[in-house]
Amino acid sequence: MRKKIIAGNWKMNADKDEALALVNGILAQYDDYNLSDTKIVVVASPFPYIHYCSSMFAKYPNMFAAAQNCSEHEQGAYTGEVSAKIIASLEVKYVIIGHSERRQYFHETNEVLLQKIHQAQKKDLIPVFCCGEPLEIREQNEHFNFIKAQLEECIFQLSENELKNTVIAYEPIWAIGTGKTASPEQAQEVHAFIRNEIAEKYDKEIAEQISILYGGSVNAKNAEELFACKDIDGGLVGGASLKADEFAAIIKSMK
Ligand code: PGA
Repeated sequence: MRKKIIAGNWKMNADKDEALALVNGILAQYDDYNLSDTKIVVVASPFPYIHYCSSMFAKYPNMFAAAQNCSEHEQGAYTGEVSAKIIASLEVKYVIIGHSERRQYFHETNEVLLQKIHQAQKKDLIPVFCCGEPLEIREQNEHFNFIKAQLEECIFQLSENELKNTVIAYEPIWAIGTGKTASPEQAQEVHAFIRNEIAEKYDKEIAEQISILYGGSVNAKNAEELFACKDIDGGLVGGASLKADEFAAIIKSMK
């Protein structure tokens, strides 16, 4: 059975006191989350807090810390970068790769993202690979081709085993941080498309095992309806993950 995953992406938010309060606020409601091997929570904090997160979560089964990015290089003279090796040594289990903000502001190409995924997997980190189209592509009805190219140039270069250890997040760029969520029908349609592409490229059994998360203005009000869709296995939550009560409500809305 594929995993249901509620992932919070704090981006470049929260100072130390806010981060501590947020972690504690999320954990305060842990008993109500009903987590299991197949329903987990992942929190991607800024780098300075990832070890705090992973140490705190170690006492709470099925809660995991994540990084928001990792270097495409293994180690060495890359000032300011953080390697998969460093991240993994901090008992962190997941790493977001290819968020649209990384692609846009840091010019990360699918080629570089593939290198990052390889680095992550060499250290047993699970990449959460983000894909999704900008508004103009959606308006031209070219989004399926656009997403297919992102998959083909990046995660479809992986072996079967590598792909099995990858999570996909569909994040339409027009829905990120805009308050404009994709409707459950729009999201489900793309998720089913991605799963079908995996089935065609690899096989149906693998496609059924891969968790595909939806991201883009997920909040406590719309989460339940999105998560009820057949091919939506959870959410990658930005803004709403910065409020402990709202993030807790989103976790609880995953059945
Ligand atoms: P948002 O961000 O929930 O604030 O739209 C989602 C994301 O960028 O991962």
